[in-house]
Order: sequence, then C-alpha cells, then structure tokens
Amino acid sequence: MKTSSVKELLSSDKFLQEVTVKGWVKAFRSKRFIALNDGSTIKNIQCVVDFENTDDNLLKRITTGAAVCVKGTLVESQGKGQNVEIQVSSVEILGDADPDEVSKTILQPKKHSLEFLRQQAHLRVRTNTFSAIMRVRSALSFAVHQYFQQNGFYYVNTPIITGSDAEGAGEMFKVTNFEANKAPLNEEGEIDYTQDFFGKQTNLTVSGQLEAETYAMGLGKVYTFGPTFRAENSNTTRHLAEFWMIEPEVAFNDLDANMDLSEDFIKYVLKYVLDNCEDDLAFLNDRFAKEEEKKPKLERSEMGLIERLKFVVDNNFKRVSYTEAIDILRNSKPNKKKKFQFPIDEWGADLQSEHERFLVEKHFKCPVILFDYPANIKAFYMRLNEDEKTVRAMDVLFPGIGEMVGGSQREERLDVLKEKMAALDIDEKELWWYLDTRKFGTAVHSGFGLGFERLVLFTTGMSNIRDVIPFPRTPQNAEF
Ligand code: 4AD
Ligand code: MG
Repeated sequence: MKTSSVKELLSSDKFLQEVTVKGWVKAFRSKRFIALNDGSTIKNIQCVVDFENTDDNLLKRITTGAAVCVKGTLVESQGKGQNVEIQVSSVEILGDADPDEVSKTILQPKKHSLEFLRQQAHLRVRTNTFSAIMRVRSALSFAVHQYFQQNGFYYVNTPIITGSDAEGAGEMFKVTNFEANKAPLNEEGEIDYTQDFFGKQTNLTVSGQLEAETYAMGLGKVYTFGPTFRAENSNTTRHLAEFWMIEPEVAFNDLDANMDLSEDFIKYVLKYVLDNCEDDLAFLNDRFAKEEEKKPKLERSEMGLIERLKFVVDNNFKRVSYTEAIDILRNSKPNKKKKFQFPIDEWGADLQSEHERFLVEKHFKCPVILFDYPANIKAFYMRLNEDEKTVRAMDVLFPGIGEMVGGSQREERLDVLKEKMAALDIDEKELWWYLDTRKFGTAVHSGFGLGFERLVLFTTGMSNIRDVIPFPRTPQNAEF
C-alpha cells in the first residue's frame, strides 16, 4: 500500500480508507494515543492504538523519537484539535529510541534553550520550531527561483573558489594545497603560489558579483544563488562565516531600476510564504509573540510576525539618500543624548547597525532603501556620481535586521574604474577580465546581493542567524 504523508492525511476527507504512514513518535499518551510526525507539516496526526489487543513489548517500544510505520483506518476524529485520526491496525517499529538516551537530548519533549538546540543541530530539525523554520526556508528558496525565472532572469553558477576579492575587504578564507609550514618559498622569501594547485593564490568567494556582471553583459538579466564565505571575526546575531547570497545583475538597469527590483523581489517572496506556509507561519507567529512579551516594552516589535510581513508586502519602502539619513541621525534623540555607541558628527561617517535600526525601527517604521553613499566607505566598482564624492550605492534596511541588501549601479566607464582601482591599489592584472567588459560594449548595469539567512530571519521572526541555517559556521564553530 502507498505510504501517505501526514500532511496529505490531515487534509483528506476520504474517511474509512486504509492508510499507511511512517514517521517519528512525538509523544505516546495513555498507551493509546501516538502523536506522529513525518516532517511534511508542523501538525501531528493522532494514531489511536487498540492497546488491549497489542503486545505489551511492542507498546513499550513506542517511545518519543522512535521511527514507526503505522497502518490503519482514517476516521473522523472525536477528539479536540484535529479533524482526522488513524484507528491503528498495526504498528511496526522501524527504529527504536531508548528513553534513557532520549532524555539526554533535545528530543525530550520539553522546552529547551536555543543554545542547547544549537549544540544538537543534527536533531533540532525534529522540533516544531526548527521544522517550521526549515520548511519556510525551503519555500523562500523556491520563491526566489520562481520570481527570477518568471521575470526573464537566467540562473548563473559563479565559482566558489576564486582568485579575486570582489568586495576588496580582505575577509577571505584562503584555499591552498600547501601543508602548513611546508609551502615552497620564492626568491623573495614569500610563499610561492605558482607551485600551488591553481598556480596562484585563491580563496573562497565573498560574492559572485564580478563574475555575474560579465554574464549580465551577455545574458542581460542573471542571478546567482549560492554559498559565500566571509572570514570576518564578527560574533553577532546577524553574521555567518558561510552564508547564502542571492545576487541579481541586470544590463541597462540604473540605480532606480535596481531599487525597484529589490523591493519587488522581496515583496514577492514574502507574499509567497504568506500564501504557502500558513501553518508554519501561524506557529512562528505565536512563538514570536511569546518571545516579544519577554522583552522590555520599548524593545518590543509593534506588530506581530504575520502582521509585519503583510505590512512589508503592502507598503512602499522608504527611499532616503545617505545625506538625508545623516541629517536625521545627527538630529536624533539618541545622538543628542549620546546613546549611540558611535555618535554621528559629520557627513562621511559609516553607518553602524545601531543607526540603521534607528532609521528603520524608530524613525521611518518601515523598510528603508538608503542610496548615494560616500564613495570612500563603499567598494571600488560602484558608479561615481556627478558630485564626485558619492557613489550610486544602495542598502535595503529592515526592522530587527538592519542591512538585508547591499547593491549598486556599477562603474561602467573604463577610465574612471581604472582610476578608482589605482587609488585603492587594486592590481589591473588581477581583474583584466573584469575590465574587458568595460572595453567591449560597456553599458550601464546594476545589481545587488541579498543575504538569504537575513531574509529567513525576518520571515520567521527568529533573532539569531545561527537558527535559520541547518549547520551554522561561525568563529570557533564548525561542528557537524
Ligand atoms: O553588502 P555586501 O557585502 O555586498 C556584496 O557582497 C555585493 N557584492 C553584492 C552585490 O552587489 N552583488 O553583502 C550583501 C548582503 C548583505 O546585505 C547581507 O544581507 C549579507 O549579504 N551578508 C551577510 N549575511 C550573513 N553573514 C555575513 N557575514 C554577511 N555579510 C553580508
Ligand atoms: Mg553591505
């Protein structure tokens, strides 16, 4: 007989049919009621065991965490909280779970701290919270591809091992086949990378942008969606050493079109989740409300999780230039009362997350797109404005998150780009191929990068980025 998923059965109205379902026991109550879950939905199906006619040894093995195959009849439920249940005719234990061992793990059905859950990241997907997050994450990934594919974009896979530092921030993990202390040296006494695997120094990519740009200049509209790596030693709730980034790049788009794209894209994927992940969002919405209650009043979100998602989908993002933002921040209460860790005195200051969050959460109370930043706090490839001190950069800021998106219109003028690289000591020989795009049919083009985990954070209402990726990579932590 076909095995059905719990999700299928819970929405079925074919009563009295014989069904087979496999899953893990969440709880077994009164020797009679198995709450069974198979990961297809956050909801469990209740399986009612005829314990008087079931072998006692078998009953003892129906324990929390065990894998079982249940056969029986689907019936309308008399009990509260569910419409259907299974009148069990047979239970087969597929995999035991020793209760003594289970009691030492997060499978033990009680409330565990998120930190304890992180230590058992291989088991945490069996909890309601993590299964909900990971289903939402999966739906978001699908929506990302759907959005771009429906809008004429091509999916490009840019290299994970690369010789270039797209962001020029020097936060790269090195890739080498040399053994520590055994690397050959050249005449200058430096490591001779010409003898290494690739014949040059290589690293894990921090961004696929530069390669994506070359593809946009042939395919027109492209996007990447892949892992990126940053060796920045920041132990925050919003940074990972390995994260997934979505990077669209579009030929002939200027910065305004780029802002439109980012806003339309984010609204689409959030709407997709609102329409397709109802049960998981309802669960996460409750969880969010309970977490918010624990916070001091001033720090609480003014909206519930689902309400906030709908708000973002239904309202325009506020677009503000860096210069306007600096004025707002300089005159803000926390700045005047010296509440910012990094006070804002003058134009040119880099914005910290405290400033970004003030703008989004306290001042505008909606997502904000900041644009036209000072050239010297942004990367080399950004289009210089006519004022010659700002660049056509944009960051999309979100409540509770800060920076969700970073992007720009790219410098398409070969001479200006070369000047900029020279000023920043970036070797033209390293990026000869990038410069070629400016030699052969150069054109205005723009793109951005969206940190996928930050999007999942916002969508699920979780507060630590380690909880929205299956196996987080952070400083001093690469378990699993
Ligand atoms: O602002 P970033 O550094 O921009 C770029 O890498 C550009 N090359 C993108 C482009 O224009 N194609 O990174 C983009 C986004 C950030 O806004 C943030 O959401 C996310 O990537 N991000 C991180 N997410 C998790 N952990 C980290 N350490 C992150 N660093 C950046
Ligand atoms: Mg950025």
